[in-house]
Amino acid sequence: MNVPDLTAYLNGRFAPLGDLSVPVLDRGFLFGDGIYEMIPVYNRTPFRLNEHLGRLAASLASVRIGNPHTLAEWRGIIETIVARQPFDDQSIYLQVTRGAAYPRNHAFPPEPTTPTVFAFADPLTPPPTQLVQTGIAAVTQADVRWLRCDIKAISLLANVLARQSAVDAGVAETVLLRDGKLIEGSASNIFVVKDGVILAPPPSNLMLTGITYDLVLELADRHGLPHQVRDITEAELRGAGEVWLTSSSKEVLAIVTLDGAPVGNGAPGPIYKAMYQHYQVFKAGVMRTGKDTQ
Ligand code: PDD
Repeated sequence: MNVPDLTAYLNGRFAPLGDLSVPVLDRGFLFGDGIYEMIPVYNRTPFRLNEHLGRLAASLASVRIGNPHTLAEWRGIIETIVARQPFDDQSIYLQVTRGAAYPRNHAFPPEPTTPTVFAFADPLTPPPTQLVQTGIAAVTQADVRWLRCDIKAISLLANVLARQSAVDAGVAETVLLRDGKLIEGSASNIFVVKDGVILAPPPSNLMLTGITYDLVLELADRHGLPHQVRDITEAELRGAGEVWLTSSSKEVLAIVTLDGAPVGNGAPGPIYKAMYQHYQVFKAGVMRTGKDTQ
């Protein structure tokens, strides 16, 4: 394994990523008992840090792991990680597990454990222009995950298998459907455009409401693009004029083929192009400068 020599953080210590390790009895390792976040950083400025840390706090509370840090402490850890990287645009990964305990037992350890806190940064590179221009292909699959997909849990086996199905099919993403409705992607949110209206599935326990999802709806609002948050049926997805994927790392990408069938005319549509443009202008003027007008 080739680990780059980048500064990471583990339990109060900053050290090269490759030098850090956690005990085998950590419940994150044994049970996937933990929570994570992925925060995009542009020009060394974390985007919507409060929202990401708020989502982290909500996920931790949902699984009854005490938040190990105050907002100020989290900010301090992230500031140091960001400052110590040799690149300006970063993807910060944060993970908190319930900590290590013996003996192995599914139930919470009787003695309180110390949560394991891990953070590291990767370079953040936007999707290549070519992908933006041509769009991407996706497949669909039944959503077999649990009923608390609003929790950003590290137990991601179903998401891992869903994304691997996409890779096996030679496409970029797997779109998940449950009870005849569009839910989200294996690691993204999904929007559709029907009769010129942007449709987004309503936030619920069945999906993770992305920070990018919120931003795309805000941009639609700000620029007068008609949009509606409501359930989207499988038939609407398959008959949509446009389908988009959003996430902090992928920004907004057009899905132009679904299960081998063209979406609309099989190319990124006009509303996608407008949204992509709005996103880029926002990124340059707000994300890169830290001037969040929200
Ligand atoms: N995942 N839904 C799922 C299941 C996700 O895993 C993600 C992002 C999103 C979009 O969230 P956001 O817009 O806040 O990035 C929706 C991150 C990128 C990951 O797992 O690495």
